[in-house]
Amino acid sequence: MPEDTVTVIDNRTGRQIELPVRTATMGPDAVDIGRFFRELGYFTYDPGFLSTASCHSKLTYLDGKQGMLMYRGYPIEQLAEHSSFIEVAHLMLYGELPKRQQLEDFNSIITHHSMLNEALKSFFRGFYHDAHPMAIMVGVVGSLSAFYHDSTDISNPVHREIAAHRLIAKMPSIAAASYKHSIGEPQVYPDNSLSYVGNLLHMMFSVPCEKFEADPVAEKALDLIFILHIDHEQNASTSTVRLAGSSGANPFACIASGIAALWGPAHGGANEAVLSMLEKIGDVKNIPAYLARAKDRDDPFRLMGFGHRVYKNYDPRARIIREMCHEVLAKLGNENDPLFELALKLEEIALSDDYFIERKLYPNVDFYSGLIYKALGIPTNMFTVMFSIARTVGWVAQWMEMISEKNQRIGRPRQLYVGETRRDYVPIDQR
Ligand code: SDX
Repeated sequence: MPEDTVTVIDNRTGRQIELPVRTATMGPDAVDIGRFFRELGYFTYDPGFLSTASCHSKLTYLDGKQGMLMYRGYPIEQLAEHSSFIEVAHLMLYGELPKRQQLEDFNSIITHHSMLNEALKSFFRGFYHDAHPMAIMVGVVGSLSAFYHDSTDISNPVHREIAAHRLIAKMPSIAAASYKHSIGEPQVYPDNSLSYVGNLLHMMFSVPCEKFEADPVAEKALDLIFILHIDHEQNASTSTVRLAGSSGANPFACIASGIAALWGPAHGGANEAVLSMLEKIGDVKNIPAYLARAKDRDDPFRLMGFGHRVYKNYDPRARIIREMCHEVLAKLGNENDPLFELALKLEEIALSDDYFIERKLYPNVDFYSGLIYKALGIPTNMFTVMFSIARTVGWVAQWMEMISEKNQRIGRPRQLYVGETRRDYVPIDQR
C-alpha cells in the first residue's frame, strides 16, 4: 500500500481506489479527490466546504483550535505590534518583508495611484443620497476596468501588478468618495504627503473650508485594524474572488465580486450588524432575552460578532482589537462608551453560557472592530467598507497567486441533484 495515499472502498460495489495525499507545511494534509468521480462514479458532497480545500496557498495560515493566524509565516501578533498596513501589503504581494528602500518605493507607487479618473466622479452623483456605501463600492470598483484597459491583460504579469497596485491604492479614494456622497459633501482629493490610512481619514473627514489633521491615535488604530483584516485564507469573499478570477474575468470585476460577497451579515457585514445589535440590546438587563433568542433554533437572530467557521477558540484578531479598544476609547475620550461596556458584559455572559461553550462560539474580528470605528467617527454604514479596503490586499494577493499558476483551471463545482426525474411536457389544457 503506497504510503502517501488514502484507500477508499465502495461497500456497494467492493471497488477500492488509492487517493494521493498532498502534504501541508502546516495544518492538515489534503486528500486529492480529483480522480474520485472518474474512478468511483461519485461526487463528494460538502456544502459550506467544512472539509474541503479549494486550492493550495502560501499566503495565510489559520489554526482554528489554537486561535492562530499567520501572514506568510509571520504571527499576526508580531505584525500588529511591529509592522504597518503598507508593509504587510508588500509582504502579502511579494512574499517577503521589504527592505527600507523597497518599502519606500512600494509606498510611493501606491500613493501615486490613489487618484481617481475625473470621469468617475460623476458616478457617485448618480447614486441616490442614501445609497449604502457598499452598493456604491461594488458598482464603482466593478466599473474600473472601463477606465484602466492598460492593466486588464491577466496573462501579462506587468498588467497584473499594475492592476493590483491600482486596486489597493484606489479603494480608500472610492470609499471616501462614497462617504462624502452620502453626507452631501464635496469629494476630497488624496494628499500624497500623508500615509495610506492618514489619506483615507483626510479624504473622509476634511472639508474645503478648514484644515484637517488626522488624530495620530486614530491613524495608528486604523492602520492596526487594517493589518488584522488583510487576509484570512479561503473565506467566502476570497473564494468568490478566486472563482471569478478562474474564469479569466478582469481583476477589477473580481474584486467587485469579493466586495459583494463580503457585504453579507454572516461575513464582513457583521461589524455593522454588531453595532446595530448592541444598540438594540441597549442595556445589560436585556442581555438574557437576546441570548435566549440567539439560542432558539426557531429564531433567526444570531449573536452578531460571535462564532466562526474556523476559529473554535478566541479569534486572535478579536483579542488584539479588544485590547486596543480600551486604549483607543480612553485616548479619544470615549472610555465610558456605554456600548463598549455592554459589549464586555455580553461577552462575559455569553462565554459562561453552556450553549456558547459547547459550540465553541467566541467573539470574532467583527465583535469589537465596530466600536473602534465608531470612536473614530466612522458611521456604521461605512464599517464593512473599511473591511473591504483592508481585505482588498488579501483578495488581490490571492488572485495573483491563483492567476500566476501554470495549470490554473476554471472553478466549476458539481452538485447532488435531488430534483424531478425525467418527465414529458403536459399541454396546458391537460394540467
Ligand atoms: C467573518 O471565514 C472567515 O474567515 C470570515 C472572516 C474573515 O476574516 O474573512 O473571519 C470574517 O466573516 C467573521 C464572522 C462574522 N459573522 C458573524 O459574526 C455573524 C454571526 N456568526 C454566525 O453567523 C456564524 O457563527 C458564522 C457564519 C460566522 C459561522 O457559521 P458556521 O461555521 O456555518 O456555523 P453554524 O452556523 O453551523 O453554527 C454552528 C452552531 C449552530 O447551532 P446548532 O445547529 O449546532 O444547534 O452554532 C450556532 C448555530 O446555530 N451558532 C450561533 C452563532 N454562530 C453559530 N448561535 C448563535 N449566535 C451565533 N453567532
